[in-house]
Amino acid sequence: MSLILALESSCDDTCAAVLDDRDGGLRANVISSQGVHDRFGGVVPEIASRQHLELVNLVVAQALQDAGATLADIELIAATRGPGLVGALLVGFATAKALAAARELPFAAVDHIQGHVAANFIANAFEPPFVCLIASGGHTLLTVVREHEGFEVLGRTLDDAAGEAFDKGARMLGLGYPGGAALERLAAGGDPRSHAFPQGGARPGLGVGGQSFARSLDFSFAGLKTALLYRVRELSEAQLRERAADLAAAYQDAIVQRLLERAERALEETGLDRLAVGGGVAANGELRRRLGALGATVHVPERVLCTDNAAMIASAARFAPHLPYPEYLALDVYATGERPS
Ligand code: KG4
Ligand code: ZN
Repeated sequence: MSLILALESSCDDTCAAVLDDRDGGLRANVISSQGVHDRFGGVVPEIASRQHLELVNLVVAQALQDAGATLADIELIAATRGPGLVGALLVGFATAKALAAARELPFAAVDHIQGHVAANFIANAFEPPFVCLIASGGHTLLTVVREHEGFEVLGRTLDDAAGEAFDKGARMLGLGYPGGAALERLAAGGDPRSHAFPQGGARPGLGVGGQSFARSLDFSFAGLKTALLYRVRELSEAQLRERAADLAAAYQDAIVQRLLERAERALEETGLDRLAVGGGVAANGELRRRLGALGATVHVPERVLCTDNAAMIASAARFAPHLPYPEYLALDVYATGERPS
């Protein structure tokens, strides 16, 4: 056997997966989502870390059992190194290092965004080069993936991430946290044309990456979120209940439209005709449907591989440096916005 065991704990999901390096096939994918944060309206970092600590060994044991394997069958251990919540990352990362050290196995330290890209490589489903749109609760970026490891950033969000826009919109409409999937369900009963939200066409010169495109490929969702806030404030509680589905549909449509518009332009700018997606927002049905109309060869991982999971970390680990024991023991994690050293 040539099995990789991977752990992911960058936010509020405690995840372990087993993947076969020979064919990129998934043998186990265990995700334990921490519902405990719902009542706070967002992830509470310290609670997330403590929950990871309670769950991590159980999740690893379950993944090995699902794969029909034991630790003796594992040849590489991997874990998310960052970006994410430091206390949360430390739990998965330290556990993975300890497992690797106990058996003197090699170790792969994986970047979380690289993981979302690599969800497309599971079962060798899609090969570079392609444009990849990553839209999650913490990140929204357009990248070019030329090889299995690494990516070039074409544009990123200047304010909120797309998932954050979904979550904040969901909150305004009285839905729980995280609200992306709930907003999608509400939107299913509404009319996307019922409200006109700002189109958010990109202006030139907005780019953070010094890109030389005629129009920036960066994203901005703050204005859209404010527009929804003003609409909601104008309404009484009864009116809001009556119009919530329409507002959700129009708001979802505006977010999806922005993502599609930039993705389409990224394909034009790069001359590539292949597009992949990743991140929790890629689980959105409206986005998935409309990606098919872009005229490119599109690959969308199944929903459970779009939201946070360890299968994508195992997939990225296939192409990452494999550090021999004991070289990795002193490695640290990195937070969102921090540079790895
Ligand atoms: O990738 P992910 O699981 O975690 C991060 O790395 O952030 O993404 C979570 C985000 C949340 O903001 C959540 O609301 C959003 O993905 N999301 C969705 C859907 N499912 C999850 N957004 C829109 N529609 C969905 N069906
Ligand atoms: Zn993520």
